[in-house]
Amino acid sequence: MRRPESFYIETYGCQMNFSDSELVEGLLCEGGMRQANSLDDAELVLVNTCGIREHAEQRVFGRLGTLKVIKDSADFMLLGVIGCMAQRIGTKILEQAPWVDLVAGPDSYRLLPEMLEELAGGNAVQLAQLELDGKETYEDIRPRRADPISAWVPVTRGCDNYCSYCIVPYVRGRERSVDALKVEQWVRRELEGGAREIVLLGQNVNSYCDGETDFAALLRRLDKLQGLEWLRFVTSHPRDLSDRIIAVMAECSTVCEHLHLPVQAGSDQVLKQMNRGYTRAYYIERVEALRKAVPGISLTTDILVGFPGESEQDFRQTVSLMEEVGFDYAYTFRYSPRPGTKSDGWEDTVSDLEKGSRLEEVIALQLEHTRRTLNAMEGKVVDAIPVKEAKSGQGKLQARTRSHFNIFFSADKSTVGELLKVKITGNTGMNLLGERQG
Ligand code: SAH
Ligand code: SF4
Ligand code: F3S
Repeated sequence: MRRPESFYIETYGCQMNFSDSELVEGLLCEGGMRQANSLDDAELVLVNTCGIREHAEQRVFGRLGTLKVIKDSADFMLLGVIGCMAQRIGTKILEQAPWVDLVAGPDSYRLLPEMLEELAGGNAVQLAQLELDGKETYEDIRPRRADPISAWVPVTRGCDNYCSYCIVPYVRGRERSVDALKVEQWVRRELEGGAREIVLLGQNVNSYCDGETDFAALLRRLDKLQGLEWLRFVTSHPRDLSDRIIAVMAECSTVCEHLHLPVQAGSDQVLKQMNRGYTRAYYIERVEALRKAVPGISLTTDILVGFPGESEQDFRQTVSLMEEVGFDYAYTFRYSPRPGTKSDGWEDTVSDLEKGSRLEEVIALQLEHTRRTLNAMEGKVVDAIPVKEAKSGQGKLQARTRSHFNIFFSADKSTVGELLKVKITGNTGMNLLGERQG
């Protein structure tokens, strides 16, 4: 066998995984490989996987079946599985899909070139590289950016929260923060490379601390950087959303008026069982503090229905919390037990049917709330940065607003990446429609 010369990465899961794919792309390019535009054109195909719900993993197994067919018909193709699912069940993947050539977890990407070398050297043994060293941050690797306008900067990796349903701490290891100076250098480099928007990433990004600089101080430090238009961060944990962070959000002009603040559930009993570390009243108090400090802030959340022990009454509390807060958008999920997590062994008290109907209810409610928000924005003039031509064509561009909505309007393609003023003229129920001003 020889060493593959080109690669293609297919990514599943959250922004952290997409950001990791950009890092792996950077790493492989540094090693002299070529990034292929499509899977058919690649000698190494990597699938970067997610293990957050069982469904996510089933999809990957299905995909590996399809990739086997492609691999069998290709002259030369190696197949690797990386990411959170690789970390969780790497050995099982090699058993169930023996056509997979290599497996590597989130802390082991630096070993990829070496693993490819070994495979090329005739070492037919498929390599499972699944050590979580708990320190890796890849801060010296230059990611390959897919989006020229917006750059992800992972400032923490891992998670120490151990929410009882969640696999992340087991597949990504302990939380660690990148040194503030390194973060600043990273952000400067992205801005010099043309990025206008920086998105700081972490599973619980608010608990960032490099020993001296905490998250509030980090935001303040980055806010001043030349060329930075918009600064965002995701994901915030309600418990770690301090008064200082809220004050900095209000004070720093680059920090966007949007926060993704997953609540998961509205009942104190369920929140306690989930080990979320806050109560409903606390969450609502944080929302009030945010809205007072940053008027008009857009709030999005995650809702998890059907957790073990969630009674009808508990679920009603989730619905009433959604009513009370009025989120601008919510990602909604049905509970999926994950082996090895604390709640895995707990009796699944909510039937599949009931989970389905609860999920439907929160989705419908959220659609209503999102539409209400979008309708209320009509007539306003907002800042927008076009990111690309709209898929629908017709000379329209797709842009982002500070409140993190998509907005579509007619403008020349050359304005991609520029900060424009756009008047909101309508919406599609999910996205805004507008007209460029001036
Ligand atoms: N770090 C982030 C989210 C990580 S996972 C946070 O703390 O909010 C993204 C979302 O997936 C979670 O917010 C949760 O709503 C959902 N999720 C996590 N584990 C799940 C499980 N076992 N079943 C269903 N949804 C889950
Ligand atoms: Fe999972 Fe909780 Fe960590 Fe989010 S904060 S990644 S839900 S353990
Ligand atoms: Fe993200 Fe899925 Fe891993 S949500 S951290 S890719 S398990």
